Amino acid sequence: MEAYELFIAPYVPSPPLVVRQMLVLSELKPGEVFFDLGSGDGTTVIMAAKDFGARAVGVELREDLVKKALGSVYEHNLQNRVTIVNSDMFKVDLSSADVIFLYLTTSANEKVKPKLEAETKKGTRVVSHDYEIVGWKPVKVKNFCENPKLGYPSHTLYLYSKAESSKSNLSLHL
Ligand SMILES: C[S@@+](CC[C@H](N)C(=O)[O-])C[C@H]1O[C@@H](n2cnc3c(N)ncnc32)[C@H](O)[C@@H]1O
Repeated sequence: MEAYELFIAPYVPSPPLVVRQMLVLSELKPGEVFFDLGSGDGTTVIMAAKDFGARAVGVELREDLVKKALGSVYEHNLQNRVTIVNSDMFKVDLSSADVIFLYLTTSANEKVKPKLEAETKKGTRVVSHDYEIVGWKPVKVKNFCENPKLGYPSHTLYLYSKAESSKSNLSLHL
Protein backbone atom coordinates (compact mmCIF):
# COMPACT_ATOMS: atom_id res chain seq x y z
CA MET A 1 0.00 0.00 0.00
CA GLU A 2 1.29 3.48 -0.86
CA ALA A 3 1.84 5.79 2.13
CA TYR A 4 -0.79 8.27 0.97
CA GLU A 5 -3.41 5.51 0.93
CA LEU A 6 -3.07 5.16 4.70
CA PHE A 7 -4.37 8.67 5.35
CA ILE A 8 -8.02 8.57 6.40
CA ALA A 9 -8.41 12.27 7.26
CA PRO A 10 -6.64 15.55 6.39
CA TYR A 11 -4.87 17.72 8.95
CA VAL A 12 -7.24 20.24 10.49
CA PRO A 13 -6.28 21.17 14.07
CA SER A 14 -8.85 21.27 16.87
CA PRO A 15 -8.76 24.73 18.48
CA PRO A 16 -7.28 24.63 22.02
CA LEU A 17 -10.66 25.60 23.48
CA VAL A 18 -12.22 22.51 21.88
CA VAL A 19 -9.36 20.33 23.12
CA ARG A 20 -9.91 21.53 26.69
CA GLN A 21 -13.67 20.95 26.47
CA MET A 22 -13.01 17.46 25.11
CA LEU A 23 -10.65 16.61 28.00
CA VAL A 24 -13.15 17.93 30.56
CA LEU A 25 -16.03 16.05 28.92
CA SER A 26 -14.08 12.79 28.98
CA GLU A 27 -13.31 13.31 32.70
CA LEU A 28 -9.67 12.46 32.06
CA LYS A 29 -7.94 11.83 35.40
CA PRO A 30 -4.30 11.99 36.52
CA GLY A 31 -2.47 8.78 35.64
CA GLU A 32 -4.99 7.69 33.01
CA VAL A 33 -3.86 6.83 29.51
CA PHE A 34 -5.00 9.16 26.74
CA PHE A 35 -4.63 8.47 23.00
CA ASP A 36 -5.17 10.84 20.09
CA LEU A 37 -5.49 8.85 16.87
CA GLY A 38 -4.17 11.31 14.28
CA SER A 39 -2.54 13.65 16.76
CA GLY A 40 -1.44 16.42 14.42
CA ASP A 41 0.88 18.96 16.08
CA GLY A 42 0.51 17.37 19.52
CA THR A 43 -1.71 20.03 21.11
CA THR A 44 -4.10 17.43 22.56
CA VAL A 45 -1.52 15.11 24.08
CA ILE A 46 0.42 18.01 25.60
CA MET A 47 -2.69 19.46 27.22
CA ALA A 48 -3.77 16.00 28.43
CA ALA A 49 -0.41 15.48 30.16
CA LYS A 50 0.35 19.02 31.31
CA ASP A 51 -3.06 20.13 32.55
CA PHE A 52 -4.80 16.82 33.35
CA GLY A 53 -1.85 14.70 34.54
CA ALA A 54 -2.44 11.92 32.02
CA ARG A 55 0.03 9.70 30.25
CA ALA A 56 -0.60 10.60 26.64
CA VAL A 57 0.11 8.91 23.33
CA GLY A 58 -0.22 10.70 20.00
CA VAL A 59 -0.29 8.63 16.83
CA GLU A 60 0.38 10.51 13.63
CA LEU A 61 1.36 9.51 10.09
CA ARG A 62 2.74 12.84 8.89
CA GLU A 63 6.43 13.15 9.73
CA ASP A 64 6.42 16.95 9.70
CA LEU A 65 3.65 17.00 12.32
CA VAL A 66 5.43 14.36 14.38
CA LYS A 67 8.57 16.53 14.42
CA LYS A 68 6.55 19.57 15.44
CA ALA A 69 4.80 17.62 18.20
CA LEU A 70 8.10 16.23 19.51
CA GLY A 71 9.51 19.76 19.61
CA SER A 72 6.57 20.85 21.79
CA VAL A 73 6.96 17.81 24.03
CA TYR A 74 10.60 18.77 24.72
CA GLU A 75 9.71 22.42 25.10
CA HIS A 76 7.25 21.50 27.87
CA ASN A 77 9.61 18.90 29.33
CA LEU A 78 6.95 16.20 29.05
CA GLN A 79 9.13 13.39 27.64
CA ASN A 80 8.23 11.17 30.59
CA ARG A 81 4.51 11.48 30.07
CA VAL A 82 3.96 12.02 26.34
CA THR A 83 4.83 9.59 23.54
CA ILE A 84 4.48 10.52 19.90
CA VAL A 85 4.32 7.54 17.56
CA ASN A 86 4.96 8.07 13.86
CA SER A 87 2.69 5.33 12.62
CA ASP A 88 -0.54 4.32 10.99
CA MET A 89 -3.17 4.37 13.77
CA PHE A 90 -4.37 0.90 12.69
CA LYS A 91 -1.03 -0.56 13.83
CA VAL A 92 -1.19 0.75 17.39
CA ASP A 93 -2.45 -1.35 20.31
CA LEU A 94 -5.25 0.47 22.13
CA SER A 95 -5.73 -1.96 25.02
CA SER A 96 -4.19 0.42 27.58
CA ALA A 97 -6.34 3.42 26.63
CA ASP A 98 -8.68 5.05 29.13
CA VAL A 99 -9.64 7.89 26.79
CA ILE A 100 -9.33 8.00 22.99
CA PHE A 101 -9.80 11.16 20.98
CA LEU A 102 -10.75 11.26 17.29
CA TYR A 103 -10.99 14.23 14.97
CA LEU A 104 -11.34 12.45 11.66
CA THR A 105 -14.47 12.19 9.48
CA THR A 106 -17.63 10.09 9.69
CA SER A 107 -16.30 7.63 7.10
CA ALA A 108 -12.90 7.46 8.83
CA ASN A 109 -14.64 6.78 12.16
CA GLU A 110 -16.43 3.92 10.46
CA LYS A 111 -13.03 2.41 9.56
CA VAL A 112 -11.65 2.80 13.10
CA LYS A 113 -14.80 1.53 14.81
CA PRO A 114 -14.04 -2.23 14.57
CA LYS A 115 -10.58 -1.65 16.03
CA LEU A 116 -12.01 0.34 18.92
CA GLU A 117 -14.61 -2.35 19.57
CA ALA A 118 -12.03 -5.13 19.48
CA GLU A 119 -9.18 -3.60 21.49
CA THR A 120 -10.53 -1.27 24.15
CA LYS A 121 -11.16 -2.32 27.73
CA LYS A 122 -14.34 -1.80 29.75
CA GLY A 123 -14.82 1.79 30.80
CA THR A 124 -12.79 3.30 27.95
CA ARG A 125 -14.19 6.63 26.80
CA VAL A 126 -14.04 7.77 23.19
CA VAL A 127 -14.58 11.41 22.28
CA SER A 128 -15.09 12.44 18.68
CA HIS A 129 -14.91 16.02 17.50
CA ASP A 130 -17.68 16.96 15.05
CA TYR A 131 -18.17 13.48 13.58
CA GLU A 132 -20.35 10.90 15.23
CA ILE A 133 -19.62 7.21 15.27
CA VAL A 134 -22.55 5.78 13.42
CA GLY A 135 -24.23 2.92 15.29
CA TRP A 136 -22.91 3.87 18.71
CA LYS A 137 -25.08 5.63 21.26
CA PRO A 138 -23.34 8.66 22.79
CA VAL A 139 -23.41 9.13 26.55
CA LYS A 140 -23.25 12.90 26.03
CA VAL A 141 -23.31 15.28 23.10
CA LYS A 142 -21.92 18.74 23.75
CA ASN A 143 -22.44 21.64 21.34
CA PHE A 144 -20.63 24.87 21.87
CA CYS A 145 -19.65 27.97 20.05
CA GLU A 146 -16.11 29.37 20.01
CA ASN A 147 -17.39 32.90 19.69
CA PRO A 148 -20.94 33.24 21.07
CA LYS A 149 -21.11 36.91 20.00
CA LEU A 150 -20.54 35.98 16.38
CA GLY A 151 -22.43 32.71 16.65
CA TYR A 152 -19.62 30.71 15.02
CA PRO A 153 -17.51 28.62 14.65
CA SER A 154 -19.46 25.96 16.46
CA HIS A 155 -18.36 22.48 17.42
CA THR A 156 -19.91 19.24 18.58
CA LEU A 157 -18.24 16.71 20.84
CA TYR A 158 -19.63 13.17 21.03
CA LEU A 159 -18.71 11.19 24.16
CA TYR A 160 -19.00 7.40 24.10
CA SER A 161 -18.24 4.98 26.90
CA LYS A 162 -17.59 1.30 26.63
CA ALA A 163 -20.30 -0.47 28.56
CA GLU A 164 -19.19 -1.74 31.95
CA SER A 165 -21.48 -4.73 31.84
CA SER A 166 -20.82 -7.11 28.97
CA LYS A 167 -19.63 -7.36 25.42
CA SER A 168 -23.22 -7.62 24.25
CA ASN A 169 -23.58 -3.90 25.05
CA LEU A 170 -20.73 -2.99 22.73
CA SER A 171 -22.91 -1.92 19.86
CA LEU A 172 -24.99 0.31 22.13
CA HIS A 173 -22.38 2.26 24.00
CA LEU A 174 -19.12 1.43 22.24
C1 LIG B 1 -8.33 16.46 11.54
S1 LIG B 1 -6.64 16.15 11.99
C2 LIG B 1 -6.77 16.13 13.77
C3 LIG B 1 -5.48 16.53 14.48
C4 LIG B 1 -5.61 16.54 16.01
N1 LIG B 1 -6.17 15.32 16.50
C5 LIG B 1 -6.47 17.68 16.47
O1 LIG B 1 -7.64 17.44 16.77
O2 LIG B 1 -5.98 18.82 16.49
C6 LIG B 1 -6.47 14.40 11.57
C7 LIG B 1 -5.04 13.89 11.66
O3 LIG B 1 -5.03 12.49 11.42
C8 LIG B 1 -3.83 12.15 10.73
N2 LIG B 1 -4.02 10.84 10.10
C9 LIG B 1 -4.82 10.54 9.04
N3 LIG B 1 -4.78 9.22 8.77
C10 LIG B 1 -3.96 8.66 9.71
C11 LIG B 1 -3.56 7.33 9.98
N4 LIG B 1 -3.97 6.28 9.23
N5 LIG B 1 -2.72 7.10 11.02
C12 LIG B 1 -2.28 8.14 11.80
N6 LIG B 1 -2.63 9.44 11.58
C13 LIG B 1 -3.47 9.70 10.55
C14 LIG B 1 -3.67 13.32 9.76
O4 LIG B 1 -2.36 13.42 9.28
C15 LIG B 1 -4.08 14.50 10.64
O5 LIG B 1 -2.99 15.06 11.31
